[in-house]
Amino acid sequence: MIQTLEWTERGVRFIDQTKLPTEEVYVDCTTYQEVADVIRNMVVRGAPAIGVAAAMGIALGVKNSKAESAGELRRELDHICDVIGKTRPTAVNLFWAIRRMQQKFEAVRMLPAQQIKQALIEEAQRMHAEDIAINRAMGRHGSALMPASGGVLTHCNAGALATAGYGTALGVIRAAIEDGKKIHVYADETRPFLQGSRLTAWELMKDGIATTVISDNMSGAMMRQGKIGAVIVGADRIAANGDVANKIGTYTVAVLAKEHNIPFYVAAPISTIDLATPDGSEIPIEQRNPAEVTHIAGKAIAPEGVGVENPAFDVTPAKYVTAIVTERGIARPPYDQSLATLADDASQPTSTAS
Ligand code: MRU
Repeated sequence: MIQTLEWTERGVRFIDQTKLPTEEVYVDCTTYQEVADVIRNMVVRGAPAIGVAAAMGIALGVKNSKAESAGELRRELDHICDVIGKTRPTAVNLFWAIRRMQQKFEAVRMLPAQQIKQALIEEAQRMHAEDIAINRAMGRHGSALMPASGGVLTHCNAGALATAGYGTALGVIRAAIEDGKKIHVYADETRPFLQGSRLTAWELMKDGIATTVISDNMSGAMMRQGKIGAVIVGADRIAANGDVANKIGTYTVAVLAKEHNIPFYVAAPISTIDLATPDGSEIPIEQRNPAEVTHIAGKAIAPEGVGVENPAFDVTPAKYVTAIVTERGIARPPYDQSLATLADDASQPTSTAS
């Protein structure tokens, strides 16, 4: 099984996603500042993995703290959360994880400092285990939506590497295959960071799942040729009205899917649903280094000094989204009602319980 990230004796260990697929190497972080750097530099990426990484980074910062009282520890915790909260702005799971760790602190603040630290370390490890269970549940719900056979297109990497394990969109595909469906995955290359060709193709091939990489500009032609029976992607943030922020290029795929009458599904945990953001226009979109567009593996592919845009995400309006798969079930339009019902359902197992 792929270990995207794990808590170790020394700190937090990450598979270095900037090196895949050519090198499988690991990075050991022993301070929270190092964890913040690996999130910022995309050694770890993908909304749920960023959330768990943030929680583990906070746990590591608290573990290393010399604070002997809850008050002192609280001041350090605030600073650690501030640093980690400034790494990447779009994936709401980052802020969800920070909030959950802060809530845990509040719940145990009467204990001696050493026990508070231990409780926060355990909370981060619990979030790691829960994330895998959540993805499995999403797979069980979403499998029925997948075609019995044929091509399924995905964009970016919403797999084991983007989560604590198994994946969201790729988790649904994995579950469908475990249920006997004969799915062939088409993986958009996903310029400029190439999560599709580098990461999705790598992890699916490791599992022996039939995979074809296409460059992003080929998806329309593949749909027109009848090769794609469904599209499924992950999400970085889903607004209350069902607008979905995900990797740049997702919007293009959704519009193309609509034109070809192909269902467009999103798989995401409840922690990705942001009911406080009414619609997609208010989702902050991360702008990344222009060099990601002008260079590939350090080699220039555009003239020096050319103008560049590099938004890391786009927003797909809810009207293009056929259904949203969560660990609590499937939301369908109108999303303002279905998402609120799912997110508020306290009787269901939750990713937000502390
Ligand atoms: O910039 P990234 O690689 O962190 O972007 C990742 C995505 O857009 C994923 O599709 C999303 O986070 C869902 S991952 C389960």
